[in-house]
Amino acid sequence: MVSVKGKSLEGLLTEFRRFYPSTEFKKNAHLTSKEEIEKLSKYPEKFWESYASELHWYKKWNKVLDWNPPHSKWFVDGELNVCYNCVDRHIKNGGRNKAAIIWEGEPGDTKTLTYWDLYREVNKFANVLKKLGISKGDRVAIYMPMIPEAVIAMLACARIGAIHMVVFGGFSSEALRDRINDCKAKLLVTADGGYRRGSLIPLKHDSDYAVKDTPSIENVLIIKRGEFPLRVKKGRDFWWHELEEEVEPYCEPESMNSDDSLFILYTSGTTGKPKGVLHSTGGYLTGVYTTSKLIFDMKDQDVFWCTADIGWITGHSYIVYGPLAVGATLFMYEGAPDWPEMDRYWRIIDKYGITIFYTAPTAIRAFMKAGTEYLKPFSLETLRLLGSVGEPINPEAWIWYYTHIGKKRCPIVDTWWQTETGMIMVTTLPGYHTMKPGHAGFPFPGVSLDILNEAGEPVDPDEGGYLVLKSPWPSMLKGIYGDEEKYLEKYWSKWNGKYYFTGDGARRDSEGYLMLLGRVDDVLSIAGHRVGTMEVESALVSHPSVAEAAVVGITHEITGQAIVGFIVLRDNIDKDFDLEDSIREHVVKKIGPIARPRKIIFSSELPKTRSGKIMRRLLKDIAEGKVLGDTTTLTEPEVIDNLKKQYEIIEG
Ligand code: WTA
Repeated sequence: MVSVKGKSLEGLLTEFRRFYPSTEFKKNAHLTSKEEIEKLSKYPEKFWESYASELHWYKKWNKVLDWNPPHSKWFVDGELNVCYNCVDRHIKNGGRNKAAIIWEGEPGDTKTLTYWDLYREVNKFANVLKKLGISKGDRVAIYMPMIPEAVIAMLACARIGAIHMVVFGGFSSEALRDRINDCKAKLLVTADGGYRRGSLIPLKHDSDYAVKDTPSIENVLIIKRGEFPLRVKKGRDFWWHELEEEVEPYCEPESMNSDDSLFILYTSGTTGKPKGVLHSTGGYLTGVYTTSKLIFDMKDQDVFWCTADIGWITGHSYIVYGPLAVGATLFMYEGAPDWPEMDRYWRIIDKYGITIFYTAPTAIRAFMKAGTEYLKPFSLETLRLLGSVGEPINPEAWIWYYTHIGKKRCPIVDTWWQTETGMIMVTTLPGYHTMKPGHAGFPFPGVSLDILNEAGEPVDPDEGGYLVLKSPWPSMLKGIYGDEEKYLEKYWSKWNGKYYFTGDGARRDSEGYLMLLGRVDDVLSIAGHRVGTMEVESALVSHPSVAEAAVVGITHEITGQAIVGFIVLRDNIDKDFDLEDSIREHVVKKIGPIARPRKIIFSSELPKTRSGKIMRRLLKDIAEGKVLGDTTTLTEPEVIDNLKKQYEIIEG
């Protein structure tokens, strides 16, 4: 959490540096003229409508936007199919033999699917879904490694109007179970396993644990990735490669209403339970299509690589739907960036001729730390544009990325957005804007935002405040699945329904550049992924030895933030190293490795205000070794001394 008033020294020192897109880049970019950009920003509905018109609709909309705060409906009464737009449309427009997906597995195996291949696979997959009883509106859980079949499964759901709910393959079986139960998915699509850092991730095995307690799941569909040992439960589990033999090669796409739901994606919020963010069909596709085209400047010859996992929104919007709607060639990689060596990404870029590369600051900082030796054998000459997402990119990392990966030739788009926004909302336009390291840039045309103080008034330039969105955008979330109250409370209650609150702090300089300052709520950003403090706390207190827990994020040089857990043990429990390990592993089991606390601090009590609220800010200061702030509202000031002593012992 960064103080909204805080102004980092780093920001002050570097804000005068400027970087310009090359004349060459400017000449060919999709969007370069001031007049055009101003026009687009001035008439948002016209702008979105013109891009929606580039897509295929079975039935045209009657009205661009129906804004009934806080719900928006885009392209009202329009009908389309997302899969048709991402696959069939390109086949009909002469793109049949173009590579849609180029994939490399972690062991080095590789596969290319043309748009025609993708079309055939998706059609069969859609028919297999139907054979398993899935129809329009049903929820399908997808728990997969990064293999093309994951994309195929998503598109197949979209083709028949089923709502997919992808769970990141790094999440635990319990996390999978809870998400399935929340949305009552009927089918789970998984794989025997996947590769990560040379190990096998036993996804089917983990799925078996999850589906023990998911009454809604009727079947499990298994994709064969390797030779992973597993059990097949007769009557419930089916192999995709067996069923595909039994179905017709063509499946008619379902004509969907623009406002129908395309997917649910769970994300961390301030409460223990992850929220099922629900996205629409026509608005969502228009948002990701437009931003893919204009921000990543995608052209026919590009090979676009977004390194996110499809289990995150970045994977949904900028691996699957955006690039495929544009008809681009996307590259997908299964494994870890440092496997078997730190040069894997650079090897891939040269081997496949990647032209646009989109990754997270965490990865960039890890590469930076590893040094430039790993880069020496590679030319990286095919790259022409770089992107960053997930957390603020510090100027050092920005400059390193620009110099060593982009070779001072490639513009960088630092893209700010969220699971809820569905599409990029703040960035520079690569063929137009001057770049300022550490500053994400400007609202994308058609996006209206502001930075407010607590009272809801706009703040002055260079002053920190809360980032809000003032008017609807096409890929705006429809709501939280099954929880309207949470939707209203989380995003709309702070200023009585007037603005969408992003949960982020930001400031804008006198030239209008936005700098993101991190979360202002209890959400941590670990390696660019959102983890709710409450989520981790709930996991901690479910350990049999833990009575009470509080979690804070501290600054970490690579992952952005790291988790520190403060723990009060139950009576008569002795703390030892085994216990600490067992608590850590318990969190991994409950949520997944991203939530593993880096440090555990035991305490006899947690500092609380008189009203009983845990003083997280104070815990954070302790965890970061800072001077203590105001403790006058503490119930037991000596708790702090004890905690500090504990911490010094651990640190020492
Ligand atoms: C943070 C990921 C600074 C922010 C697409 C946001 C960023 C949260 C940036 C959403 C960026 C994302 N600069 N911060 N370029 N991009 N964030 O839902 O705090 O996983 O609210 O979506 O990540 O995370 P989510």
